[in-house]
Amino acid sequence: MKRIFSGVKPTGHLTLGNYLGAVRRWVEIDQHRSDALFSVVDLHALTVEHDPARVLRLSRQAATLLLAAGLDPERCTVFVQSHVDEHTRLSYLLECTATDGELRRMIQYKEKSVRAREAGQSVRLSLLTYPVLMAADILAYGTDEVPVGDDQTQHVELTRDLAVRFNQRYGHTFTVPRATHPEVAARVMDLQDPRSKMGKSHENGAGIVYLLDEADAVRRKIMRAVTDSGQEVAYDREARPGVANLLDLLAAATGGDPKTLAGAYASYGALKKDTAEAVIELLGPVRERHAELAADPGEVERVLRAGAARARELARPLVDRAYRAVGLLPAG
Ligand code: AMP
Ligand code: TRP
Repeated sequence: MKRIFSGVKPTGHLTLGNYLGAVRRWVEIDQHRSDALFSVVDLHALTVEHDPARVLRLSRQAATLLLAAGLDPERCTVFVQSHVDEHTRLSYLLECTATDGELRRMIQYKEKSVRAREAGQSVRLSLLTYPVLMAADILAYGTDEVPVGDDQTQHVELTRDLAVRFNQRYGHTFTVPRATHPEVAARVMDLQDPRSKMGKSHENGAGIVYLLDEADAVRRKIMRAVTDSGQEVAYDREARPGVANLLDLLAAATGGDPKTLAGAYASYGALKKDTAEAVIELLGPVRERHAELAADPGEVERVLRAGAARARELARPLVDRAYRAVGLLPAG
């Protein structure tokens, strides 16, 4: 059976981008067709300046949301990364496999390190090594597939390179994984700035739909989405990114095709209205279920404890094997 691993960082409230780019597929497809693990990758939230109380709160909320979205602990493993030591254990061996040059080439590192410096903050070393920890997350489980949004392609490529290099040097140890992406909405754009990704921590929340937004807030944000000059509704991600983004959202929410849907609309207003209603309908049940689960934190904790125990059991032998392969003396 295929092994799937993916994760979400508790750096902000989960967005519609997280849902359409990743979580919805985990729920609807991945957990049914494979042995899948989904993790709240909390260590990754420490790579930029952070508020401990906020990371704690967001980790709990992200785990609750994954379950609310429909991950079923009877079908898949849901856990918190820092509960399983094997991730950091393996990360060190992969730091001894990766090169300084290849990490400095990572787009997210380049962008985020510039942003931190501009804000007068120092750049944490972990921001540079973060893709190695991500590789460890993936490789520790013998993962075949990594379902992620488009923005993670480069990190999964690095993971593949590290797996191949490690295997060549020390003998076959890791499965070489591949990234999978949704057919539509693999990159949901910010509603106010449709040339950048809808991200949890964008300064201006007006362009971000959060999974826990009330219907009114979703409607307001989508109705105020920046569209392009021009009148006619056409699907062109380069020339008309704002309209294309709305068409992607509508298509993802209704199961249609963005190009075909474009032909059905005579005005931007009508497109926005239908998109808003479709997204509200999509998110409503997740928000309701979240409220139920949040009222019973003991249940979420129980799921996470069992998830971590299973994850540990899977990762431990593989990471032990990697330790032996590089020449470290077995502990016993
Ligand atoms: P992150 O919020 O960076 O931890 O991302 C968790 C998952 O959501 C990853 O698979 C991302 O690729 C995906 N994701 C995040 N933002 C977007 C977006 N705007 N569009 C599509 N997928 C996204
Ligand atoms: N880097 C991913 C992101 O920013 C989150 C992540 C960490 C991840 N480890 C992972 C995703 C392992 C997939 C597999 O979205």
